[in-house]
Amino acid sequence: MYLGLDLGTSGVKALLIDGDQKVVGSGHASLEVSRPQAGWSEQDPANWIAACEEAIAELKAAHGEELAAVKGIGLSGQMHGATLLDKADKVLRPCILWNDTRSHAEAASLDADPRFRKITGNIVFPGFTAPKLAWVKNNEPAVFAKVAKVLLPKDYLRLWLTGEHISEMSDASGTAWLDVGKRRWSPDLLAATDLDENHMPALVEGTDKAGALRAELASRWGMAAGVPVAGGAGDNAASACGMGTVGEGHAFVSLGTSGVLFAANRAYLPNPASAVHTFCHALPATWHQMGVILSATDSLNWLCEITGRDAAALTDELGGKLKAPGGVTFLPYLSGERTPHNDSAIRGAFTGLAHESGRAALTQAVLEGVAFAFRDSLEALRTAGTMLTRVTAIGGGSRSRYWLGAIATALGIPVDIPADGDFGAAFGAARLGLIAATGADPLSICTAPLTQETITPDAELVGAYEDAYRRYRALYPAIRDVM
Ligand code: XUL
Repeated sequence: MYLGLDLGTSGVKALLIDGDQKVVGSGHASLEVSRPQAGWSEQDPANWIAACEEAIAELKAAHGEELAAVKGIGLSGQMHGATLLDKADKVLRPCILWNDTRSHAEAASLDADPRFRKITGNIVFPGFTAPKLAWVKNNEPAVFAKVAKVLLPKDYLRLWLTGEHISEMSDASGTAWLDVGKRRWSPDLLAATDLDENHMPALVEGTDKAGALRAELASRWGMAAGVPVAGGAGDNAASACGMGTVGEGHAFVSLGTSGVLFAANRAYLPNPASAVHTFCHALPATWHQMGVILSATDSLNWLCEITGRDAAALTDELGGKLKAPGGVTFLPYLSGERTPHNDSAIRGAFTGLAHESGRAALTQAVLEGVAFAFRDSLEALRTAGTMLTRVTAIGGGSRSRYWLGAIATALGIPVDIPADGDFGAAFGAARLGLIAATGADPLSICTAPLTQETITPDAELVGAYEDAYRRYRALYPAIRDVM
């Protein structure tokens, strides 16, 4: 048995698989995000631990015997968050999350230092970790003075699970302190934010052993003490391991809180100018590129809150058949945007509203707006040298056929739906736990699921979608100028 733990933004998932990678059971606990000021997004790391305990307790209640047989654990987590610890490993302030944009000025100033793009292969986005530390230094100097370690969210879970300060390449790529081509911390970039390697965890590959389960937790959960914990991965690379997106040309579109268009690469292919992220993959000597949009299902969730309906009720109102885009356009920039704009100040918009624009028209525009944001990422990946010919859909939003139809038609490529099963980040993490514990060949474990169905672009609507995409593209510069 192998256990995958995924620390997402909206909850923790604990997933158990057997040695044949069959899912045995799972537990889940929800997390809230606190937004104390405009553009801020925080979580208390104590809540991650409580949620992890709750998810494992649920798993233990139904599968205690199987949990006792776990031989390896893998971790996955929301990326980029700055968890600041003092020298006694005490948390100094709430974690500043990936979709927090308060450090935009610090990000712009680090990004203006040419060493960052050269060494990391990426823009310094406000969501990345380094500018958050610069913000803390400028705004909370007493906290900054006490910082002894900076950990990414899942690596804070690891500290609690194992007592070790360790990270791995895929998640470390999102800090803006990693030399992504050479897979090691950059002392120069750390020094540019008044830090050094002592503030960083040790680095391993995602498939390596990176700590062992503490005896106290093992006895509470009825597990064996010393079970190895794998390096694991940031949630997108972990999902890629779960989906078998590990070889050249493989790609997925993830409809989660954030939206990600992810492509695996055999080589390091940086192209910061396109606002594409180029990160280490969780497997050794592998990299990946991704376009990241900050509000994917978050956009639909926002509409749910406004209308008092749940997501299924809203999308059901659209019926089963894809419609041509109407006059209403939605820009999904509720917390700014990364790819392709790198603009933390921009905010979302509805345009083209008329008396007859009812709830369904707004829902349709939201789904299309997110689909067009993915098209922007597809174009950015093209500029970065990666041509996608098909993608597999994952994430909660992929339950909506309408949304997948809109995405296939906006991207102009087929979207594969995997055969029933759970191939997300927790599954990828469990696979990494299996590889670390057994030494199995990563490529023989990280295989792709069967395709259950393929959604192809709607030939009759491709033209209308192309027109609507051009309108969508023209709106960003117009709206930026008035904001
Ligand atoms: C990736 C990113 C998000 C988070 C969400 O760069 O910021 O996808 O990892 O958990």
